Amino acid sequence: MAVGLAILNQKGGTGKTPVTIHLAGALAKLGKRVLVLDLDGQADLTAGIGFKRDVHGADGDSILSLLLDLKADPDALIRRAPNDEFDVIPGNMQMYLAEQSLMGQRNRERRLERVFQRIRTDYDYILVDCPPALNVVTDNALLACGRVLIPARMHRTYRGSINNLMGQINTLREVFEADIDIVGVVPVGYEQQVDQQAFMEALREGAPQLLAPALRKRQTLIEDARDAGHSIFSYVPSGSYRKKAQRESQEDYLALAGFVMRRTAEGMS
Ligand SMILES: Nc1ncnc2c1ncn2[C@@H]1O[C@H](COP(=O)(O)OP(=O)(O)OP(=O)(O)O)[C@@H](O)[C@H]1O
Ligand SMILES: [Mg+2]
Repeated sequence: MAVGLAILNQKGGTGKTPVTIHLAGALAKLGKRVLVLDLDGQADLTAGIGFKRDVHGADGDSILSLLLDLKADPDALIRRAPNDEFDVIPGNMQMYLAEQSLMGQRNRERRLERVFQRIRTDYDYILVDCPPALNVVTDNALLACGRVLIPARMHRTYRGSINNLMGQINTLREVFEADIDIVGVVPVGYEQQVDQQAFMEALREGAPQLLAPALRKRQTLIEDARDAGHSIFSYVPSGSYRKKAQRESQEDYLALAGFVMRRTAEGMS
């Protein structure tokens, strides 16, 4: 059985999409079979691994069609990512319609869970890049995966978003009697700043098991890799400065992959 992992923070720009892509790259590098899902209408993940944003064209094939028609075959939408590191179900703008389209549908929060049950290809990990929202789409991701990884900017203004997300997770646990484990909180764009360290210290005191290895800020590298349609594991940068940034970032993401593998293998608290 594949381990599902929703990558979610309802706050925008916290690093959900790059963390999904490069964590997938790290897990693939470690020999794992990985499927990545793009649930965001922005389709940044789809574009960031080398597809055109409208990869499924206007014919209506998207993850949304799988959520609406539970008889549709999910394997038919699985593509090999152009970077050849992992498989993907790409997304497109149709996901913006999901909230509206799922309204009034039976069992609307548990439809992705049903889709997961029908994926026949074997995977070790299914990573789900979520939109910056707490809505029926992200409820689907949390319930289907049963686990969440929270990329966060380490600044006190972001604490509220983590607390709100935890609140939503608790609500889903109660309403659906579901197990949803928090795998960890990942510091993204870490630069050893005082307020970042204070944030991490607070987390370490409250729930030390949740603090994932930090990802150092490597903006240029991450953006160059995205423009080239690669994860940092298949991207080939030029120049010694960029190569050094890549080595460092690969170390960070391999450490994160190790953390995720450990946490998802053990019973979590
Ligand atoms: N080590 C790193 N790993 C990931 N992102 C990083 C890193 N260092 C810097 N960044 C930057 O963090 C930013 C976060 O990415 P992005 O804005 O796509 O996040 P997101 O949460 O997916 O956004 P949205 O909420 O719009 O979906 C990017 O500009 C990226 O270049
Ligand atoms: Mg994103």
